[in-house]
Amino acid sequence: MLSSGKGSNLSNLLQRGYHIAAVATNRPSCGAAATARQHLVPLGEFSQKRFGSSLARDRTLAAWLERIGVDIVVNAGYDRILGEPVTRAFAGRMLNIHPSLLPSFGGGMDAVQRALEHGVKITGCTVHLVTEAVDAGPILVQAAVPVLPGDDQDRLLARIQAEEHRILPEGIDLLWARLGGAAQPAKETTLA
Ligand code: GRF
Repeated sequence: MLSSGKGSNLSNLLQRGYHIAAVATNRPSCGAAATARQHLVPLGEFSQKRFGSSLARDRTLAAWLERIGVDIVVNAGYDRILGEPVTRAFAGRMLNIHPSLLPSFGGGMDAVQRALEHGVKITGCTVHLVTEAVDAGPILVQAAVPVLPGDDQDRLLARIQAEEHRILPEGIDLLWARLGGAAQPAKETTLA
């Protein structure tokens, strides 16, 4: 799994029994990194300051994931745009979870705030395949979440994340089945 954030999606997958082969982060002090350490999941720290360019960072990240031999890469709140070395190596095998109903409010880390600012009455979350075009790959699963009177970012995000924790496993299972793993439960797949 790739994450820069608090790691609620990582905790949810661990709780549901998915085998997480590795967690990669660019923010070693984030919640997801702490969860990985606590669960003894191999943690790769790819802080930008270690690398001269994002190309160098992404080459190292892709090589690390390939060495581990992951089946599916799950991107949940990794706050750097993944470049070609990663998107090409894991084409068709990498998912992203985004807190809006794509294609609305894609392309940033502020989707919930933008939905509130626009005054939309329904937002939600999307699991999609990662391509080089940010937040624009084929959609696998979506869930709608109504915006309620008096919602602020925290309240709305909490309800969106409750849906994320339901649809990310669905997306993983769907992708695993598509990749030909139907005979094997997704919980046995090796995610990163
Ligand atoms: C999620 O809301 C996801 O949609 C977005 O980043 C957030 C990650 O949350 N891309 P968490 O770190 O898994 O709690």
